[in-house]
Amino acid sequence: MLEFLTQSVKHFRDTGSIWPSSPLLARAMTKSLEGVSGPRRILEVGPGTGPLTKGVLRRLRAGDQFDIVEINDVFCRMLEKEILQKFRTRHPQVAVKLHNAPIEDAALIPGYDLIVCGLPFNNFPPKLVRAIFRQLLALLSNSGELVYFEYAGVRAMKAPIAGSAGRAQLKRIDAIGKSLRRNHSGSTELILGNFPPAVTIRLKREVTAQRGASRGKSSRAK
Ligand SMILES: C[S@@+](CC[C@H](N)C(=O)[O-])C[C@H]1O[C@@H](n2cnc3c(N)ncnc32)[C@H](O)[C@@H]1O
Repeated sequence: MLEFLTQSVKHFRDTGSIWPSSPLLARAMTKSLEGVSGPRRILEVGPGTGPLTKGVLRRLRAGDQFDIVEINDVFCRMLEKEILQKFRTRHPQVAVKLHNAPIEDAALIPGYDLIVCGLPFNNFPPKLVRAIFRQLLALLSNSGELVYFEYAGVRAMKAPIAGSAGRAQLKRIDAIGKSLRRNHSGSTELILGNFPPAVTIRLKREVTAQRGASRGKSSRAK
């Protein structure tokens, strides 16, 4: 907890929070794994101190493959020492690999059944947000699901203190999220049992068929 706070102060743009996610949020983010049969491939991006990682590990079984990508080397060392080494010893039939890299540079093989993403998108420039979503959606299997979260009302809370350029950026990030939900069968769930309350957003790789005038237009996030 203390290390999360320290890293949050040192790297606020990348960490974007002062409090790790709750077990309830972890459960909501990982529940769709139950419905996937056979050996599964899971990717987590931005684990921090690992609250969502623990949620994934609890649901893994022999034959599964779990990749984790984290930019911050302090978090990586903590994850290895406090969570992953113990898990690998107890579950040698599950492949768990931690990549200490920004997701933009991580060498990953596509075909994930679930991608759990904890990145603080509202702190990123819109161009980077678009690029990361494009990359993550391309890493999903055809029936795969990308799940990310944001704090409820986060843009409305940030807007008054953001300045005019910051507000314009938040508006663009809001528009990217709306476009993704429209184009990738998005669904949301409010999780009150988190500090602060959070909303999970689930996206499918498959592009939603557009009705009427928009039919045939590009499905990419604008
Ligand atoms: C909001 S914290 C989430 C931590 C944790 N998943 C949770 O829910 O408590 C965001 C995490 O994303 C990591 N991160 C930020 N930018 C990243 C990037 N480009 N690639 C990989 N990880 C990144 C940060 O270092 C931090 O650990």
